[in-house]
Amino acid sequence: MTAAVLVCGAVMTGCRQDMHNQPKFIPLRANDFYADQRSNRDPVPGTVARGQLKEDSYFYTGKHGVILGNELPAGITFNRDLVLRGQQRFGIYCTPCHSELGDGNGMIVQRGYKKPPSFHDERLIDAPLGHFFDVASNGFGAMPDYAAQIKPYDRWAIAVYIRALQRSQHAKESDLVAAEAAAPAAETKEKPETMSHQQPAREGGKQ
Ligand code: HEC
Repeated sequence: MTAAVLVCGAVMTGCRQDMHNQPKFIPLRANDFYADQRSNRDPVPGTVARGQLKEDSYFYTGKHGVILGNELPAGITFNRDLVLRGQQRFGIYCTPCHSELGDGNGMIVQRGYKKPPSFHDERLIDAPLGHFFDVASNGFGAMPDYAAQIKPYDRWAIAVYIRALQRSQHAKESDLVAAEAAAPAAETKEKPETMSHQQPAREGGKQ
C-alpha cells in the first residue's frame, strides 16, 4: 500500500511540471535577460502611484515654481472653521516651541531648545503665506518638518491661523469695532450647540 502511494506520488510529481519550467523573474534574484541582471526593474519614467498624482502643485508646495505664493490654494475656502481648525492644529503641533502667542517662547524652548524667531517680527509679518506652509512641510534650520504628522490642508489652516495671530498683536481700533459687531452673531451660533449637548443629559436623568 505504502509503495503504491509512493509510486503514485512520484508519477504525479512528474506530471506537475506544466508551468514550473519556464523563463520567469523571481523578485530580487539575478536574471540574465537584462544587461545589469536585475530582475526588479525601475518604474517607467513618469509613473504615478495610485492616489499620488499631485496635480495642484501649489496646494502641496505653497510655491508657484520656485516662488512662494501669498494666497490660499484654489481648493481651500477661507472661513471661520478654517481658522479654528488652524488654531487647534497650531495648539497641538507648534505651541510647544512657538508658544500660543507665537513669540517663540514655548515650553520646549524654555527647557533649552533653540529659540525660534517671533511670528511678530517684521520679516515674518511680511513673509508670504506659502512660507509658513513651506516651513511646516519641510522644516527650517533647527526645526523639524511636520509633513508626516500634519496633512497639507491642515498645514494651510495653520498658516492662516499664524496670520490671525500676527494680526492679533497688531490690531487696530477698527478691528475691535468689527469684532464687537461680529460677536453677538457668534454667540447665537454657539448657543443651540451648547443646549443640544445638555439636553440628552437631562433626559438621561429622568429615565
Ligand atoms: C521642536 C520645536 C518646534 C516646533 C514644534 C515647531 N517649530 Fe517652527 N521653528 C523652530 C525653531 C528652532 C525655528 C528656528 C529655526 C532656525 O532658524 O534654525 C523655527 C522657525 C519657524 C519659522 C520661521 C522660519 C523663518 O523664516 O525664520 C516658522 C514660520 C515656523 N517655525 C513655523 C512652525 C509651524 C507652523 C509649526 C507647527 C506646525 C512649528 N514651527 C513647530 C522650532 C519648532
